[in-house]
Amino acid sequence: MRSVAFTNIGSLVTNDKGLELGLLGELQNAAIVVEDGSIAWVGSSFSVPDTDEQIDVEGRTVLPGFVDSHAHLLFAGDRAGEFSARMAGESYSAGGIRTTVAATRAATDSELEENLVRLASELRASGITTFETKSGYGLSVADEARALRIATKHTAETTYLGAHVVPAEYEGRSDDYVSLVTGEMLNQVADSAKWIDVFCDRGAFTVEQAREILLAGKAMGLQPRIHANQLEQGGGIQLAVELDCASADHCTHFDQKDIDALAGSHTVATLLPGAEFSTRSNYPDARKLWDAGVKVALATDCNPGSSYTTSMPFCIAVAVRDMHFTVEQAIWSATKGGAKALRRHDIGAIKVGMRADLIELNAPNALHLAYRPGVNLISKTYTAEDFR
Ligand code: NIG
Ligand code: FE
Repeated sequence: MRSVAFTNIGSLVTNDKGLELGLLGELQNAAIVVEDGSIAWVGSSFSVPDTDEQIDVEGRTVLPGFVDSHAHLLFAGDRAGEFSARMAGESYSAGGIRTTVAATRAATDSELEENLVRLASELRASGITTFETKSGYGLSVADEARALRIATKHTAETTYLGAHVVPAEYEGRSDDYVSLVTGEMLNQVADSAKWIDVFCDRGAFTVEQAREILLAGKAMGLQPRIHANQLEQGGGIQLAVELDCASADHCTHFDQKDIDALAGSHTVATLLPGAEFSTRSNYPDARKLWDAGVKVALATDCNPGSSYTTSMPFCIAVAVRDMHFTVEQAIWSATKGGAKALRRHDIGAIKVGMRADLIELNAPNALHLAYRPGVNLISKTYTAEDFR
């Protein structure tokens, strides 16, 4: 069994509540020992147990790898023109998704996989050690099934989003499309999807349709999550709580009833600052969620339409600046919050027994992630597999 010690950690973010050292459980002059891919010891840099290998991080910061609980990485082409038109005054609508559906259907399997691999390596370079990805740009039985087949080769967190929008060939027949999504399509993807998701919003699916789709997925053993209240105030967040979704994602709009429902539930609110940024929409006030005790995650929402970023540090900086997260809250949300949004207990913290998914940050503490926007401070990203 290979053991590696990281020594001289200037600041270590553990996210270990038991240490009672603030939200992030930060230790100074710390060290950790990794054995066979798991955290085996956490303590002072002055009393490190003997190990096979030592890595001196020379005072830099170490934190848990970021957990990106919301991304759409199975697609072809881009929509840079649509982005530029928006910046010139056009508004965002769900309809743009159909442009990417056409490009995705026309792509070969290897083109789709190469694009996924390219984006996954960008995620990793930004410190992300676990990512979720959705289907949703195929919208036919064969195209959704192949997207998820490709996805399973690269992540355990695969999400079936056949209900992204109603495809052009079902225009005006959305209930027929819902029957396909809950029938033949679901049957074909059930083996390769862990999660089921619906875009419940203006121009996509109603609350009633979303309920039917998520319940059908649950009956097949998929776990529910939802795109809720991105474009308008609606019933998506309430539905998320009703169905015990792991997460309600976007939450660009919410009211007091939504806050109360989330606060009394196990559903995480996943905020996606890249989407408000790239659609020039107003940002939600995350402080209201935090003050009410809601668990909040941050994710990239990487997709070619509304948020073409793979950078978690960018999301952290925007969340702090424009969504009123404290810096500590934003860092927690991008690590432990993401783990909760995926209902994972083995990632998101540096604690004995957890996976050794780590970021080495070229800064004296993690506050620099927001304090130095746009500067690449990620000097190394490790996952458990690197130590086996
Ligand atoms: O999460 N909201 C729905 N889906 C994506 C956008 C997809 C697109 O515009 O291509 C999102 O923002
Ligand atoms: Fe999304």
